[in-house]
Amino acid sequence: MQSSNINLSYTVRGLKLRIIYYSKFMPLAFWIYLFIPLAITELCRILKITNLNMPLPLWVNLEPTTKCNFNCITCSRISLSPSRLNKSLSFNDFKHIIHEIPQIKRIHMQGLGEPLLNQDIWKMAKYANAKGIKLTTTINGSLINPQNVDNLLKYFSGIAISIDSVNEENFNKIRIGGNYRQLIANIRFLLERKNRLNAKTIIISNYVVTHLNFSELEDYLKFCLNFQLHSNIDEIKNLYCPYQRQYKEETEFIKESRKFHNKIVTIISKYKKVFEKNSLYLNYESIYKRKKICFFPFITCFISFDGFVAPCCMRQDPAAINFGNIFKTPFKKIWNSVKLKMFRNTLIRNLPNIVCDNCPD
Ligand SMILES: C[S@@+](CC[C@H](N)C(=O)[O-])C[C@H]1O[C@@H](n2cnc3c(N)ncnc32)[C@H](O)[C@@H]1O
Ligand code: SF4
Ligand code: SF4
Repeated sequence: MQSSNINLSYTVRGLKLRIIYYSKFMPLAFWIYLFIPLAITELCRILKITNLNMPLPLWVNLEPTTKCNFNCITCSRISLSPSRLNKSLSFNDFKHIIHEIPQIKRIHMQGLGEPLLNQDIWKMAKYANAKGIKLTTTINGSLINPQNVDNLLKYFSGIAISIDSVNEENFNKIRIGGNYRQLIANIRFLLERKNRLNAKTIIISNYVVTHLNFSELEDYLKFCLNFQLHSNIDEIKNLYCPYQRQYKEETEFIKESRKFHNKIVTIISKYKKVFEKNSLYLNYESIYKRKKICFFPFITCFISFDGFVAPCCMRQDPAAINFGNIFKTPFKKIWNSVKLKMFRNTLIRNLPNIVCDNCPD
């Protein structure tokens, strides 16, 4: 691919942001759309404007299900309350959510569960696409099969597959319940089918780095190059809030992983150029504190399978924080409610906010 990327670099409050627009992967409008709220947020901060009504979001994260066939070592799904575990979003509720956010353009189908375990996923996908809504998803890759692969490629414009290890033994320790060989076969099959159908779907590989898989990072990056896969690298995050019971234990685990932070950054910067040369993107989620520059609650939100509206993907358990329920209160009321506006104010004015203060913890 000819490089037609736009590389923007600017500094907000001492933090250097570098934004690259990959023309092949994201419509320019989407990036402009991300810039505007960032500019508005910064303006609000400077002018100390706190009572701003935000327009309804153009994209949201939506949880298709809390069912899962894995029990990954990094994941907080298992600590959802038992009454919320192994439940799925219904087709009617999906339609209701779209009705409540009529201008929605993009939905990322992902939550604390495996999206393909929602039995109505194809009905939802067809319905959303018919309304001009683009869908993306993050899946564990175990359920890609000849029966669903064409639908995946037809309805989803982006599919991220969580890999987390390219060593069979290690994979089985981290992605508990998964089968490494099956996963690799499924990825191969998906890529073959994509080529055969000439599908435009972007396939991305996700890798959550911890002290348990750091030693494989280079092998993993070579694996992506070999398979011609884009990659998201995410250093493990504490998905619990400080007031949740599991937070402390998770922090101890994360402390071990953070010991490799500098080495991770070095490896990624080495491979960035290699990926670019191969027309692949390598996205790295840094561990720098987000609070002062986070614009998620201004432009998007996370909606759980049972309708709770949470600020972002870092905080997907409504028991930890939510702003209301879309099945009980009109979304436009929740979106500009006092509670959500106060939450945004803490970001605009850098006020204490236990949910965001140390994010990503
Ligand atoms: C919660 S999963 C849900 C989707 C699907 N079940 C999967 O595994 O891809 C979404 C993503 O979060 C990642 N993840 C899990 N625990 C994490 C953590 N503590 N920090 C950062 N990412 C995490 C997963 O590896 C996956 O890429
Ligand atoms: S497959 Fe996804 S949802 Fe399931 S346990 Fe692993 S990270 Fe969590
Ligand atoms: S927890 Fe707060 S700072 Fe972190 S991503 Fe969510 S909204 Fe942004």
